[in-house]
Amino acid sequence: TEKSEDNLRSPICCIMGHVDTGKTKLLDCIRGTNVQEGEAGGITQQIGATYFPAENIRERTKELKADAKLKVPGLLVIDTPGHESFTNLRSRGSSLCDIAILVVDIMHGLEPQTIESLNLLRMRNTEFIVALNKVDRLYGWKTSRNAPIMKTMKQQSKDVQNEFSMRLTQIITQFKEQGLNTELYYKNREMGETYSIVPTSAISGEGVPDLLLLLVQWSQKTMVEKLTYSNEVQCTVLEVKVVEGHGTTIDVVLVNGVLHEGDQIVVCGMQGPIVTSIRALLTPHPMKELRVKGTYLHHKQIKAAQGIKITAQGLEHAIAGTGLYVVGPQDDLDDIMEAAMED
Ligand code: GTP
Ligand code: MG
Ligand code: NA
Repeated sequence: TEKSEDNLRSPICCIMGHVDTGKTKLLDCIRGTNVQEGEAGGITQQIGATYFPAENIRERTKELKADAKLKVPGLLVIDTPGHESFTNLRSRGSSLCDIAILVVDIMHGLEPQTIESLNLLRMRNTEFIVALNKVDRLYGWKTSRNAPIMKTMKQQSKDVQNEFSMRLTQIITQFKEQGLNTELYYKNREMGETYSIVPTSAISGEGVPDLLLLLVQWSQKTMVEKLTYSNEVQCTVLEVKVVEGHGTTIDVVLVNGVLHEGDQIVVCGMQGPIVTSIRALLTPHPMKELRVKGTYLHHKQIKAAQGIKITAQGLEHAIAGTGLYVVGPQDDLDDIMEAAMED
């Protein structure tokens, strides 16, 4: 039998925070995409999902020379909206994740939805890392594209370093007022009790390697049990969408288990349980956003964790935020239909 360490699924990481702190832009920076500029009003209004394969993470973090032993196959990142009207989507995102990134704008400090997000994460005992974003907006900032943060900091003028320290100290105080200890990640000697802060710029990429490495290392170090792959399907519907050429589809996050083309599934519907079978299992290409229209890869089967678009008959009345169940050969369909409607 495999050692559990050798059988880890990808951690699911949710990115949360106040509106316009740069959540989507940070993901664009990692993906090399431009999703944010395509959003209506620059505002995220849906939950997204992007799969980052381990090889991309290794490439992106190599300057840190951490000889990152990546035991996880990749990282599945869930993007959430920061606008105040989307509390339900933040709650849905945070309920799915193993770990989170809480994004704070260094020029603004803690804001109402930062605190709301923080409380959602605390309620579920979810570990998180603070990305202190927009460091490039410090007056006089010298850009060094995609560089590790310590290296970049050393190259900044005394004035920039002083402004950074002053803002950092204020933000650490604001976290303390919320009952949380936080510290710059490379000074943090008690991760687990003290939350780590990684300064970042989503525009020029400084600190992004640090953020990725910390996420992966922290999750594979402290969550082996939670991340050990299990065969039992655990799957949540994110969105119900009509897609040209595919009819009504559902975007789901598969947290555990395997889905196959042809699997009989049950999802919660507005007029009762929907029993159908998977016609096609689609994913965007790695490093592409599930919620953005594009070309899809077809799969015979997909193993967790992944963000997946499912096409099937009768999904018109499916309800987002509910569970997806697979009917196995030993299962009683009535029991599963009942379970699906309890969501
Ligand atoms: P919502 O999803 O709507 O809550 O916003 P968000 O947190 O995803 O922020 P978004 O990525 O939409 O960025 C908001 C604005 O801030 C955009 O104009 C970005 O270009 C800008 N921005 C994001 N990150 C940075 C950064 O690191 N530096 C600078 N200078 N601007 C940034
Ligand atoms: Mg966004
Ligand atoms: Na925005």
